[in-house]
Amino acid sequence: MIIAIDGFSSTGKSSVARELAKHFNITHIDSGAMYRAITLYGIRNFYDPISKTINTKQLIQNLNQIILKFEYNPNTSTNEIFIGEENVEKEIRTHIVSQNVSVIAQLPEVRNYLVKQQQMLGKTGDVIMDGRDIGTVVFPNATFKFFITASEQERVNRRYLEISPTNLTREQIKENLRQRDKHDVEREDSPLKKADDAILIDNSSLNKQQTIDLIIDYIEKNNSF
Ligand code: CDP
Repeated sequence: MIIAIDGFSSTGKSSVARELAKHFNITHIDSGAMYRAITLYGIRNFYDPISKTINTKQLIQNLNQIILKFEYNPNTSTNEIFIGEENVEKEIRTHIVSQNVSVIAQLPEVRNYLVKQQQMLGKTGDVIMDGRDIGTVVFPNATFKFFITASEQERVNRRYLEISPTNLTREQIKENLRQRDKHDVEREDSPLKKADDAILIDNSSLNKQQTIDLIIDYIEKNNSF
């Protein structure tokens, strides 16, 4: 069974997917964590402080050296991401990574490199993967596909609560969400869009548990496996 969950930033995709993985006893892969880890590597190694951008040419040349893996942490019930042997689960969530990730995720070389790994992870057993292009590109034949969206205001509130306490203002968070939405929707390679056969869920007025229950209910009613 492969469950694809796509959608906009801060709709709760990853935390919903984590709970669904527990419920169905399957593996959760946060594909966004992989794009964030590549971005973190770029910031650490190929960041130009003057232009405040990552040198994408150098990053692309060195992509093969960035070895990513996930390891399950039973204390947090999270499949945490590593670059080599270093756990970077926390550092990939910092604001500087959020500010740079969508530009890195536009690069076809980066997408090819990660999509291949995501497809391999799907071969190891039952998987729930969340991201932007899982139902459209990574697993077009997924057993179940969901696309989650919510109002901008709700998404800003959720992100604010998620990263609090923070020095960032709601305005800065909104700016980052807008900028990433724009990049993700408008990019040429695998833009963020709902797969034709995905179930659309607007969870602006649903909490996390209600979103989870809705998806479980749908899967249990339609599961022929
Ligand atoms: O958690 P949040 O909603 O902030 O986003 P994320 O899932 O961590 O993804 C971070 C960024 O990675 C997105 O804004 C996209 O630019 C990119 N991404 C992507 O292009 N394709 C995916 N399958 C997953 C993430």
